[in-house]
Amino acid sequence: ELAYYAGEFRDINEAVIPIDERGHQFGDGVYEFIRVYKGVPFSIERHLDRLERSAKAIFIELPVSRQELKDIIHQAMEKSTLKDADIYIQVTRGIAPRNHLFPDVPAQLALTIRHPRQTPEEAYEKGIFTLLLEDERWANCYIKSLNLLPNLLAKQAAASKGCKEAILVKDGYITEGSSSNVFAIKDNVLFTTPATRKILSGITRANVLECAQEQAIQIREQNMTPSFLKDADEVFITSTSVGLLPVSKIDEVELPTFRPVTVALKHAYSLRTAGT
Ligand code: PDD
Repeated sequence: ELAYYAGEFRDINEAVIPIDERGHQFGDGVYEFIRVYKGVPFSIERHLDRLERSAKAIFIELPVSRQELKDIIHQAMEKSTLKDADIYIQVTRGIAPRNHLFPDVPAQLALTIRHPRQTPEEAYEKGIFTLLLEDERWANCYIKSLNLLPNLLAKQAAASKGCKEAILVKDGYITEGSSSNVFAIKDNVLFTTPATRKILSGITRANVLECAQEQAIQIREQNMTPSFLKDADEVFITSTSVGLLPVSKIDEVELPTFRPVTVALKHAYSLRTAGT
């Protein structure tokens, strides 16, 4: 496990963030989270596209070129010797005395590479419990911003009730999970929230939609109500860290345990991450 900051690779526990780092003081930055499978950073182009989009949306100029960033990622993989890993990349507006106005300083890149966080096999077999909660976030959730306080509060509230994920509801419709996207299957049609500014357009979401297309599964990117979700044949969440994870319970409502479409899509997705 290894870190990178201010142009150098470092011990992951080294204290390197200056007190006036704007990521530290304001959460003034954006991030990406990439999974490495068997030495290959999965969907790296899509992740870097999204990082560039997020940075641009908050007027941060990336401190390195796309190729330089790829080189740093590959050096991190080599130095860590990890074949399967989680890579966290963060870009902040830099280091300057605390002031809300943008400083005229270069952006700062931070990166860590770690052993992948594993989800217990039991969760994939049994599915997870989820809790519906009001989506209290801002209007630009398509930006992968460092400001995750509402997400943390929602995840923690869910955890305190024995649930693995909070599913967020805004204006009467499901947006997404606190750190995942949400899919439902009803009468063999795959539903997911449209990728507007109200949700993060997940890379796993995009890959799963492509898997569904390849299998000629009908797709509807359409807003879903809580009652639609609770009445669905199958529900699953997606994210880089968990891939596809079935939902077995929403609030007090138990979902069917027969999940043929989820199983087929999970299989297709695992072939993709394996590079086949
Ligand atoms: N979270 N929605 C939100 C709010 C997220 O935080 C994430 C991912 C997703 C799924 O996106 P993707 O499929 O690109 O990982 C959706 C990452 C894993 C995180 O916060 O670490």
